Amino acid sequence: MASLTIRNLRKSFGVVEVLKGVDLEANTGEFIALVGPSGCGKSTLLAMIAGLETVTSGEIYIGDRLVNSVQPKDRDIAMVFQSYALYPTMTVKENMAFGMESRGVPKAEQEKTIARVAALLQIEPFLKRKPGQLSGGQRQRVAMGRALVRDPALFLFDEPLSNLDAKLRVDMRTEIKKLHQRIGKTTIYVTHDQVEAMTLASRIAVMHQGEVQQFADPDTVYNRPANIFVAGFMGSPSMNFIDAEITSSGGAPAVNFPLSGGGVASLPLHNGVADRAQSKKVILGIRPEHLSRQSASNSGKQGFATMSAPVEVVEPTGAETMAVLKFGDREVVGRFSPDEAPRTGEDMPLAVDMTRACLFDPATTRLI
Ligand SMILES: Nc1ncnc2c1ncn2[C@@H]1O[C@H](COP(=O)(O)OP(=O)(O)O)[C@@H](O)[C@H]1O
Ligand SMILES: [Mg+2]
Repeated sequence: MASLTIRNLRKSFGVVEVLKGVDLEANTGEFIALVGPSGCGKSTLLAMIAGLETVTSGEIYIGDRLVNSVQPKDRDIAMVFQSYALYPTMTVKENMAFGMESRGVPKAEQEKTIARVAALLQIEPFLKRKPGQLSGGQRQRVAMGRALVRDPALFLFDEPLSNLDAKLRVDMRTEIKKLHQRIGKTTIYVTHDQVEAMTLASRIAVMHQGEVQQFADPDTVYNRPANIFVAGFMGSPSMNFIDAEITSSGGAPAVNFPLSGGGVASLPLHNGVADRAQSKKVILGIRPEHLSRQSASNSGKQGFATMSAPVEVVEPTGAETMAVLKFGDREVVGRFSPDEAPRTGEDMPLAVDMTRACLFDPATTRLI
């Protein structure tokens, strides 16, 4: 097993630069997620780590070894793709043995390795079956098994769960997490699914247009997003963004924005954030779950601000209720527990957890 270090990595296809100076690292045994929208360069980055794409400039180290010009087969990497091509005419066992066979691993050792990995992935009952006789989830497990028998220095996943249905995807996500907890392999996991990234990784690299926007632990990425892109990409429903203005009356800073019906919301600010702002104009970011119905327990609470807003649409999902509220001419999504659920048409008294609010600079889109 080994660490991974990437320095100022660039990739161009012709005149198009798709990776624009990526820095990244994974400690030995760490689980890193690369997340970002389709086309941002995730697969290209992974293919460069694997040696399947050439490096335009920059460095890739596996452990202490610069691997830029090392052949893929000599990088000691195992990769699992979204479309896991298993050999259809071979049994599961033969699929798993194939790589070892071609590397000349002795039969007895092959048997031992397959038994160990099959137990780990709980695929022993399917060893004699052909891929066609397996469900999507079982096939995905076999594809992981085939990668695991190699005991590689690095494990690369490229959207391994994207082809599975929603329920299975969640189950397999848990399986992958358990697997990593047991074997602790250094893993780079590419996904466009921010929930997968949040739940699996110890650190997340959020990518956009060939650049890493933020590389940090899930808590930081979610609660202190580096910029508006990261804030909007991580979390569903997305963070609400409201054009606002900072004022201070009597030394107490507040952030103001127009309300429906002509009034102005003035929500007090904390943590010296107002002092860091370069201009009075800011973008206020509030996550849906940081709105709640005013109650005895929250309306006077330190750090909470109160306001009210008309409710346009209510969407119960069972465990929680989403609602679209009108903040001035802007629609804002709130996420409520069913016992405090909004009613359509009501002017809802809200408590806003301002300790969790984010302010962004409209000029740079960066977190203030
Ligand atoms: N072989 C290639 N030739 C030209 N452009 C490519 C090639 N591979 C990828 N690209 C382009 O590079 C960008 C990043 O692609 P990719 O790494 O597959 O993104 P992601 O995996 O994040 O969806 C896309 O705009 C894609 O069209
Ligand atoms: Mg991709």
